[in-house]
Amino acid sequence: MYSPIARIVRNQLAGIPLLRRWRDACGEPLQQYHDISYNVGVCRHHIGAAQRLGSLAPLGQTLVEIGPGGNLGNALILIASGARRVYCVDNYRHVDFQFKLTQFYRDLIADILAHPDQLPITDPALWDRRRAAQALAEAVTFARDTVTFNPDRIAYLAPCDAQTIPLPDQSIDVLFSHAVLEHVKHPAAVCREFSRIIKPGGYFSHVIDLRDHFDPCGLAMLRYPAWLWHLMSSNSHGHVNRCRAAHFEQFFRDAGLTLLQLQATAILGDVERIPMVISKEFSGLSIKQLRILGLSVVGIR
Ligand SMILES: C[S@@+](CC[C@H](N)C(=O)[O-])C[C@H]1O[C@@H](n2cnc3c(N)ncnc32)[C@H](O)[C@@H]1O
Repeated sequence: MYSPIARIVRNQLAGIPLLRRWRDACGEPLQQYHDISYNVGVCRHHIGAAQRLGSLAPLGQTLVEIGPGGNLGNALILIASGARRVYCVDNYRHVDFQFKLTQFYRDLIADILAHPDQLPITDPALWDRRRAAQALAEAVTFARDTVTFNPDRIAYLAPCDAQTIPLPDQSIDVLFSHAVLEHVKHPAAVCREFSRIIKPGGYFSHVIDLRDHFDPCGLAMLRYPAWLWHLMSSNSHGHVNRCRAAHFEQFFRDAGLTLLQLQATAILGDVERIPMVISKEFSGLSIKQLRILGLSVVGIR
């Protein structure tokens, strides 16, 4: 864990445009999740949650994934499951690195077609291997070591902030994100943007990681006042907004979104790890609220 001073210095350096460009040029794709079972798990979680609440997703539907990160595997799984089109919105263009992932996508496609039981589909009788293979061939093409996505099936919108998504009002059937909303700078505005693009009766599902990314066993970040936290983390690529479960609940409701399911997915076991003195934006929250370290939210517009 870095000291606050070291974090302020790192954050200020990260704000210098030339250094940012250099960091981006030296960047590598997010490696940690180039794992087919991770993609399958994410799709099954979000689409399964919407289906259990009455959605027919993804059959013939238009979906948005916010913050896909290092690979567009979820979009491929959704296309193979019958989605009409998938938009992948990320404020950082991780997928410029796709040339390194050709084999990952080839393996993912082979795996999907060989094991359709892992797809997020409501009625396996409606799934047809030939149609799925054709949809995938339409969505992605391989040439030597590069991968190209057909924007009519998989549209990668990046860099694009979730606060201003270039999609028409009420045009999306399902919108989801996984470990993203804790990173957006203005979560209330982002929820309003979601509310604008989701169709009335359309679904949303988000998994939000509320842990302290620098203190995974505790919540040391809550001790810093907002201005100091800003100095420490505003330019960092993995900026964490520190909002708690209660804040997110309020943002969704204020945006006119109806929450159908709200589940704490992780709880801080060791209450001693909550700092004795915490910044005033968290001081009104109960210990029970503060202990929530992960949230799964499903709802309808
Ligand atoms: C921790 S990664 C999660 C990636 C992926 N969903 C996963 O589960 O592996 C967070 C992702 O959110 C993206 N992100 C952060 N803030 C964003 C914003 N304001 N708008 C769109 N994407 C954002 C980041 O670029 C990154 O790809």
